[in-house]
Amino acid sequence: MMRYAHVVGWGRYLPDRVVTNDELSRVVDTSDEWIYQRTGIHERHIAAAHETTATMAFEAAARALAVADLHPSAIELIIVATSTPAYMFPSTACTVQDYLGASHAGAFDLSAACSGFVYALQMAAQSIAAGSVHNALVIGAETMSRVIDWQDRSTCVLFGDGAGAVVLKGSSIPGGVMATTLRSDGSGGDLLSLPALYHNPVPIAGAEFSHNGHHKNIVDMDGKQVYRFATNVIASSIHDVLKMAELTTDDIALIIPHQANVRIIETAAKKLKLPMEKFYLNLEHTGNTSAASIPLALCDAVRDGRLKPDDNVVLVGFGGGLTWGASVVKWDVTPPDVSFPDREWKRVRYVMARGRSHVRRLQRRVEAAVVRPSRNGDGSDGD
Ligand code: UT7
Repeated sequence: MMRYAHVVGWGRYLPDRVVTNDELSRVVDTSDEWIYQRTGIHERHIAAAHETTATMAFEAAARALAVADLHPSAIELIIVATSTPAYMFPSTACTVQDYLGASHAGAFDLSAACSGFVYALQMAAQSIAAGSVHNALVIGAETMSRVIDWQDRSTCVLFGDGAGAVVLKGSSIPGGVMATTLRSDGSGGDLLSLPALYHNPVPIAGAEFSHNGHHKNIVDMDGKQVYRFATNVIASSIHDVLKMAELTTDDIALIIPHQANVRIIETAAKKLKLPMEKFYLNLEHTGNTSAASIPLALCDAVRDGRLKPDDNVVLVGFGGGLTWGASVVKWDVTPPDVSFPDREWKRVRYVMARGRSHVRRLQRRVEAAVVRPSRNGDGSDGD
């Protein structure tokens, strides 16, 4: 029997701290006028010192689970699309698994820069279609503020922090994620990059490591080339995915593109001969949040009443790699009425999840200190 991956929950998180263009103009040589005219961005949210990609991803995921009315233990797969994990391992997804107490979930991070959410959605939808999982959490989360050069006005004005999540649920009823196209072109990898390895001198002859010429873990971008690439691939991937789904642009209620620059989207709309009203935009208030931008925009589109049951929506991502991709999703849910007290009450389970996690850590420590030495006398467990 065919299995379809339906979106049954969605949630977003934006840090409280809002940084306006005017505020940035006191940090670098820029102006609200330049930023707004060239990008469409007015302000962005910036994570507080105690916030991480994982804490924001958790907040978005908890809200998505509340909308889906699912217990975290029903989730079997957690994928976090991110380019700004606090650790390469443990993955952000594993930390989210722990915070949620999602005791039956496999969890991993996915790296496809700003296309990451579309990639992750497809991986989770395919796992559901194959019958290997029933419910999955797909999250896009980024703390871009920690990987940009705040002295470089050509990049620091563009990005913001945040997280968005959806819950996918398997069903035999046709709908949900209907078609996806994913593409990449590594020859353009140098156009938009973020080094992952710190320069770590290796005191062994022949093993010295040099860092591609970059010594800092900050975003490097050739804005003009990325701009040209983006306008082309938005148009081509929408075209390709519609062909795959056997639909035309007339069948599409809304297109939710990665929110990088309003001018990129305007150029793509012209190429596709589509009115701008078909495209959902929220970058004015969020900036470019990389992998988080599409799920954040999706949540805002639902909030604004832009999606009705049976609407076809196209999600389209593009970014570093180079990577790009698009997905057609049949939106087949009416937003449930999730009342606030109900949501707040259910958050008690996350306090309990952290408690259980502490207990498990304590257990491990006790085992290491007491059980093993007493068994072997030398601290090893003998096998
Ligand atoms: O999420 C991944 C995808 N990323 C993107 O999609 C970004 C794609 N690229 C872009 O969105 C645009 O290329 C930018 C917004 C980054 C730049 O816009 P642009 O129209 O291509 O500007 P530019 O780079 O050609 O710069 C024009 C001028 C330059 O000055 P000169 O050389 O003409 O004197 C820049 O130095 O604007 C200057 N400039 C700025 N001025 C004020 C660059 N950044 C700023 C700034 N404030 N923040």
